[in-house]
Amino acid sequence: MHRSDTTGPRPAWFFREYEPVGVDLGSAAAVASYDRNQGTDPDADDALLDRLDVVAGTRLVDLACGTGSLVVQAARRGAEAHGVDVSEQMLAFARARAERAGAGAHWHRAGFLDYAHRAGPADVVTTRSALHQLPDFFKQQALLNAAGVLRPGGTFYLWDVIFSFPPADAAEHLGQWIDTAGRPVGEGFTRADFEAHVREEFSTYAWILEGMLARAGFEILAHESRSPTHGEFLCRRR
Ligand SMILES: C[S@@+](CC[C@H](N)C(=O)[O-])C[C@H]1O[C@@H](n2cnc3c(N)ncnc32)[C@H](O)[C@@H]1O
Repeated sequence: MHRSDTTGPRPAWFFREYEPVGVDLGSAAAVASYDRNQGTDPDADDALLDRLDVVAGTRLVDLACGTGSLVVQAARRGAEAHGVDVSEQMLAFARARAERAGAGAHWHRAGFLDYAHRAGPADVVTTRSALHQLPDFFKQQALLNAAGVLRPGGTFYLWDVIFSFPPADAAEHLGQWIDTAGRPVGEGFTRADFEAHVREEFSTYAWILEGMLARAGFEILAHESRSPTHGEFLCRRR
């Protein structure tokens, strides 16, 4: 985790991706409770890695890796696994997880926008529950950067809070999500967390992301909405 993980100075108008947006996940307490709150599940990570054909020797980069479960599971099956995150606290947790698992992984303190990939072109780039940290203009820049990390034909996987409801029905669908997802304090992300997500973070519509993915050089192989508020894109770099 050193300076060469990132590109050089940015213009003054550039998004400050190291400053927290919305729900604060950077504190020691937030990192310690993150896996419980998020429902981190190494078996689910393995199922995703199977879907993405991640095997020994696959070079995988997980952008905004958080506590690093996906990266560690990839490293455990012999992949060259890279975890990238702006949060030193998250990376410290992820590194400890890798050490406990005896899995050699590569950790980079960098952001979607300034991550400079120094290894060979990646076979797979993933990012889950994080692209919404950027406003749409910067999401597009982040997707361009992700495409630049991948080899032609490589796989890009995106999972996030992604809206697929009709815009006119937004209040109804957001209300349903917040009503059902919020947990009591101490048991998970709270109603107030989800309210802050909608108010202060930058989740957007699937149809906007479709255009961004195409403009970043991705072919969309599959798009699935698990619910009106969550979904995934599986893409191939052209
Ligand atoms: C909700 S967590 C998701 C973590 C992990 N991907 C997962 O699925 O559990 C969001 C993560 O994004 C990171 N993050 C926020 N903005 C970022 C940025 N611009 N570039 C890279 N990571 C970022 C945060 O530090 C945090 O670890």
